[in-house]
Amino acid sequence: MNIPQLTDFTEASLDAAFAAVRSEADATVAAPGFDAEQFRLEWLGRKQGHLKAISDAWLKAAPPEAKKLIGQRFNALKEQIEGSLASAGTAETKPAAAGLDVTLPGSAQRLGVEHPLVRTMAEIVGVFQRMGYSVGLGPEVESDFYNFESLNFPPNHPARDTQDTLVVAEQEGKPLRERLLMRTHTSPVQIRSMLEQAPPLRLVIPGKVHRNDAADATHSPVFHQVEGLCVDTNITFSDLKGTLDHAMKAFFGSAVKTRFFPSFFPFTEPSADVQISCIFCGGKGCRKCKHSGWIELLGCGMVDPAVFEAVNKRRIELGRDPVYDTRRISGFAFGMGVDRIAMMKYGISDIGLLYSGDMRFLEQFA
Ligand code: DAH
Repeated sequence: MNIPQLTDFTEASLDAAFAAVRSEADATVAAPGFDAEQFRLEWLGRKQGHLKAISDAWLKAAPPEAKKLIGQRFNALKEQIEGSLASAGTAETKPAAAGLDVTLPGSAQRLGVEHPLVRTMAEIVGVFQRMGYSVGLGPEVESDFYNFESLNFPPNHPARDTQDTLVVAEQEGKPLRERLLMRTHTSPVQIRSMLEQAPPLRLVIPGKVHRNDAADATHSPVFHQVEGLCVDTNITFSDLKGTLDHAMKAFFGSAVKTRFFPSFFPFTEPSADVQISCIFCGGKGCRKCKHSGWIELLGCGMVDPAVFEAVNKRRIELGRDPVYDTRRISGFAFGMGVDRIAMMKYGISDIGLLYSGDMRFLEQFA
């Protein structure tokens, strides 16, 4: 603030000089975005404040006969400024009162939403949770033992070729079973869960998996699966069929039919592929189902006793009881691709969109 030199010490010109200072203070208090703390520092600061400067320039420098007149006006000014600071309240309340301009654009709070894959995964998991399943998780960087060997893919077995694997570099110095890779499926979490828990077991395992697949409209080197595992006494193939039929109806709608075809997975025997009646044409045949009326959705089967044996063997190595007694217990397992299901459900034609981070795509799910 510019403080003029006082030359005229009549009461009228002193009044005018103090009034000018006061109106400047009043204008600051009334301005939009008024900041009470900054005002206090600027005006009342002991070393740099405007009042200190006025006191130095006007009061201390005044001729002795004018000191009393200036002193009275100075004290009044100080009281007024302290008063307006007190009534201005806090910095938070003032702008709303003085500076609210409803014609200005607001600052938008952008709410996040679930990614369509996360939402689909949660919906699938929810269907099984309502049947009493709990949720299991496992690591995405996995060892050869959990991803393959324990699931009855022996070293060099051709079944390994069905899962083009991304391996972690510089693992050749380790025994094969300890070598690290990106898990190609969520099935290794079946093994990890059975090492931790004794039967009975009912689990769903959602998660991210990786394969060395070239990206195109239906393939991505990163994708998602939901795995399921049910182990107890007297679990039969009928339980598997009933459970998956119910799950598909709960997820896609009660009109959906399921059918089971013989298939092969090393860790289930017998194994099956499950198809559902086409959700687009109701089974009449359309482009989406290649005019067959059916869409292939998941793999499943009865847990191969070799898997229980691998679990028992590893449990013994870990100092735990081999409680997966194949004479007393049996189980079923299943695994489904989440990306394909999400693409069907939301009509997404290119899997890459799910991983693009493109807001124009993602905003459609808000
Ligand atoms: N892990 C299999 C895959 O990624 C899917 C699968 C098939 C999982 C059958 C299972 C199952 O649990 O029983 O191709």
